[in-house]
Amino acid sequence: MIFETHAHYDDEAFHEDREQLLNSLSLEGIDYVVNVGASIETTKNTLELMEKYSFIYGAVGVHPSETKELNEENFNWLRNITKTPKVVAIGEIGLDYYWDTPERDIQKVWFDRQMELAKEVKLPAIIHSRDAAADTLEMIKAANLKDVGGVIHCFSYGKEMAKSYLDMGFFLGIGGVVTFKNAKKLKEVVEYAPIEQILLETDCPYLSPEPNRGKRNSSLNLPYVATEIARLKGMDYEDVLAITKKNALKMYQIKD
Ligand code: NI
Repeated sequence: MIFETHAHYDDEAFHEDREQLLNSLSLEGIDYVVNVGASIETTKNTLELMEKYSFIYGAVGVHPSETKELNEENFNWLRNITKTPKVVAIGEIGLDYYWDTPERDIQKVWFDRQMELAKEVKLPAIIHSRDAAADTLEMIKAANLKDVGGVIHCFSYGKEMAKSYLDMGFFLGIGGVVTFKNAKKLKEVVEYAPIEQILLETDCPYLSPEPNRGKRNSSLNLPYVATEIARLKGMDYEDVLAITKKNALKMYQIKD
């Protein structure tokens, strides 16, 4: 009973064995997957995967680095498809100052528009924030995004920033990075955050945990992530799986 809250199974890294891999997930205890759009094209791919596989749900949205493609026409399309059954979130959306393209003003405009969309259609948001801690928090507060909530995906900031989000009721998405030896800051965040506000995620095909670091990631690696969370929090492994699954069902408003 594992809920994978953030995957990109439409990625070309899965072209050779996608069907076989997805069909094997339930046998390995993965019973829900949310596939996350990052552009108009990958959002379309997400809708296709959702249709084909009963256990796959979808998030629709455009990643900050892809926001240059957005215009009123495709934004309207995005708004319309939020009504599709099994669309459970707006994402991934946010700010990325690591790649820092397109210019920040464009990223900000479409981050804001997509947060407004999340509130309009009452869906939680999946937030991507890289090297943009202060601006992300400020914009989320200004938008009152806590009204619909969501997850700070692949959380990479410190304890203080974690507190700001936890206090607003957001979830923290924890993935493979927590297993890395040098991830001291993230391990501290996991020790600190209540398990009721943690979600398991891979961001696959990226960010494979130890001992598979550097290889293609998939939801099959989530037990390594859950094991490390259990160790850090002094909890039972099965409890970590059960509680994080409950958290995900609650955030995505899915009836089990
Ligand atoms: Ni992602």
